[in-house]
Formats: sequence, structure tokens, C-alpha cells
Amino acid sequence: MISATGVGWKVGGAQILHDVSLTVGTGELLGIIGPNGAGKSSLVNILSGVTRPSSGRITVQDRDVTRSSATARARMGLARSFQTSALFDGLTAGENVRLAVQAAGPAPFSPFRAAGPASGRRVDDLLARVRMPGRGATLARDLSHGDRRKLELAMALASSPSTLLLDEPMAGVSAEDVDGLTEIIGEVRDSGVAVAMVEHHMHVVLGLADRVAVLHHGELLAVGAPAEVTSDERVQQAYLGEAL
Ligand SMILES: Nc1ncnc2c1ncn2[C@@H]1O[C@H](COP(=O)(O)OP(=O)(O)OP(=O)(O)O)[C@@H](O)[C@H]1O
Ligand SMILES: [Mg+2]
Repeated sequence: MISATGVGWKVGGAQILHDVSLTVGTGELLGIIGPNGAGKSSLVNILSGVTRPSSGRITVQDRDVTRSSATARARMGLARSFQTSALFDGLTAGENVRLAVQAAGPAPFSPFRAAGPASGRRVDDLLARVRMPGRGATLARDLSHGDRRKLELAMALASSPSTLLLDEPMAGVSAEDVDGLTEIIGEVRDSGVAVAMVEHHMHVVLGLADRVAVLHHGELLAVGAPAEVTSDERVQQAYLGEAL
């Protein structure tokens, strides 16, 4: 569904990514791990079109999108979440999701257009899908951190994406919410979505991912099944035996 081939990114004289190649297929979850500053978020930005790579190419469903905007890629079925929360705090959970549903709809986007009953049902479906039924009327700013991350997921799912890029969807959430988010993201993958997920919770990545890619100093150290990757000597050295 999405692939990077020989991607490099140089900014301000520093080479942040070197020759990164990876693919994520339909119904597959690729975990992207690596120490702080390894280039994980930079890679997600390049895959989603927020940043242009200095070299290499990106394809979405075999179409070259290297020069396409993030908006164009979103129309091709790509959705993403950000490492830090991106919600409208003064709106309710339901209103946040409704904006995402409307933005994903065929009509030109207008937040002032009245929401039809179909969009209301879609909002309810999305909130149920992230285990937040009945939270629709709660202001986003009053939600727990875990619920905020679930809400972001609901918003990313509003466009019915075929590819979903998640940058640390579980950062800073409670153990209970980690379990909930793990289940939800697993269900998204099982529904046939190609998922690439950056995550520091190692037990989650190793348990959930079909394949794991390890970035270190902007280079891909290893890609493979979780057990293969964790037994790789170079990977163990990169982590100094810590997280693994
Ligand atoms: N716009 C930029 N300009 C200059 N340097 C950047 C820019 N964006 C990222 N970097 C640098 O690139 C490197 C990789 O950053 P990136 O955010 O991709 O890492 P990461 O693997 O996501 O780290 P973390 O686990 O902390 O989220 C870091 O050294 C960072 O300082
Ligand atoms: Mg990051």
C-alpha cells in the first residue's frame, strides 16, 4: 500500500535519514522502533507528505507520490496521527470527529455546513470503534490523555483510510489505555488497513506488529518478524540491551 525506496533526508547540513527502504501491505502492521532522535517521526513526515525527501521515492498503491502534497496523499487513502495531540480542545469529542468526517467527505469542506443524520451516525460509529461510546458530548479538553489519543485515532479513521501512519499513539498513556489502544489498532489492521506505527512501548510493538523496522541514526538497521529483529545483534547493540 505504501513504500519508501532509498529515502534520504538532509536538513541544515545534517543527514537525518539515509537510504531507507520499506513497504507496508494491506492488513499488515509495521512497527517502527528506534532510540530517540533515530529519525522515526521524520520518516512518518516523509511518508505522509509533510516533508519532501532529499532523495528516493515514495509510492502509495504503486503510484509515485514523492512530489504529491499531504492533502493529495490523504485523498489517496492515507491518514496519520501526530506524536503530540492535535485536537480542538474547545469542541466536544463528537464535534472533533464530525469535523474529520466532514473534511473527508466528497463536498468541499466547510465547518459551517449543517451535519446530516448520516454524518451523526458516522460520528457515533467512529466513537464506538475507539471504545468511546457516550463520550461524544464531553469537551476534548476534559478527556483523559488516553481518551484524547483514542479520539485522534477516531479522527484519523474518519476518512476510511487504506493506510494509517501512527506516530507514538500510546505516548504517555496509562497501562490500561495502552491495552485498549493496542486492541483498537489491532482491529484496524485486521480490517485490512496497512498500518505503520512508531511506538516506544516495546512489548506492544513486538506483540502487535507483523514486521518491525529498526531505525538507528537515520539508518534502517533491520526489518523483519519481531523475533528476528530482537535477536539481531546490531539491534541489541543499538539499544544497549535496554528496552529489549
Ligand atoms: N526540521 C528539522 N530540522 C533540523 N533537524 C531536524 C528537523 N527535524 C528533525 N530533526 C533532527 O532529526 C533527528 C531525528 O528526529 P526525529 O524527530 O525524526 O526522531 P525520532 O526518532 O522521531 O525521535 P523521538 O523518539 O524522540 O520522537 C533529530 O536529531 C532531530 O533533531
Ligand atoms: Mg518522534
